[in-house]
Amino acid sequence: MNSAKNESRIIVDLVKVSKTYHPDIHAVVDVSLSVNRGEILFLTGRSGAGKTTILHLLNRIESPDKGLVEVAGQDLGKLSQGKMQKLRRSIGVAYQDFKLLPNRSVAQNIAIAMEVTYTRPSTIRTRTRDILQRLGLADKYHTPTAELSRGEQQRVTIARAVAGRPQLILTDEPTGNLDHETTTLVMDLLSHCNKKGATIIIATHDESIYRQTEHRVIELRAGRIVNGNPVPDDSRRHDPATTEETDNADT
Ligand SMILES: Nc1ncnc2c1ncn2[C@@H]1O[C@H](COP(=O)(O)OP(=O)(O)OP(=O)(O)O)[C@@H](O)[C@H]1O
Ligand SMILES: [Mg+2]
Repeated sequence: MNSAKNESRIIVDLVKVSKTYHPDIHAVVDVSLSVNRGEILFLTGRSGAGKTTILHLLNRIESPDKGLVEVAGQDLGKLSQGKMQKLRRSIGVAYQDFKLLPNRSVAQNIAIAMEVTYTRPSTIRTRTRDILQRLGLADKYHTPTAELSRGEQQRVTIARAVAGRPQLILTDEPTGNLDHETTTLVMDLLSHCNKKGATIIIATHDESIYRQTEHRVIELRAGRIVNGNPVPDDSRRHDPATTEETDNADT
């Protein structure tokens, strides 16, 4: 947070980004997309459209072949490993394939995100219990994640992503294995995090969670944006920290 750009309204900026997997799978093609701090953005599109690849580019799990990827004002292509690690502490990711530690308890899996930011053990416990309560998993605190159903594992993945109160939350198919009622719990939690200031990007097939949304919906097809506005509409922004900047809105 030491340059003007770091404090800019825009937290995610992709400029003409392309990613091709060997030999010729064009996963992301010439995508430009900006996200304001405090937005919720839905990234939609059919299987293979490039949603996960975009999330991976934002966390530098993958690097683009072309174009610029900026997160919190930092060009990921130029960040040292150390600085990237520091930035990652402020990005919560709920992966499509969960990536939970199977032999550790639910609480231990969730604590990881907070331990890296040196959160007090008592705060970790309180926050973990609160999040599990919100997700209907209060009774699974001590359960090894290997013993959970897929829908339960999915919720733990989301709990871990939000627990450290990151500025940016990336969720990949957060409701893929959930029934309607549990989907509502997850969406309510994400909305709660958003109201506290987090920016949230949700990659999803699940039309039920964005059909009636007031937030931006971007549709990808074969790696390209084919629907939705790739620049933020400031009027939809929930951004209490920077509301004084709205006079400079560029729309
Ligand atoms: N590591 C990889 N190596 C090679 N090809 C990959 C890799 N990851 C993704 N792809 C390919 O890139 C394209 C985009 O994949 P991606 O996972 O981003 O799609 P998606 O929109 O997330 O799909 P889904 O809805 O099924 O999760 C697909 O054709 C996929 O097969
Ligand atoms: Mg995917």
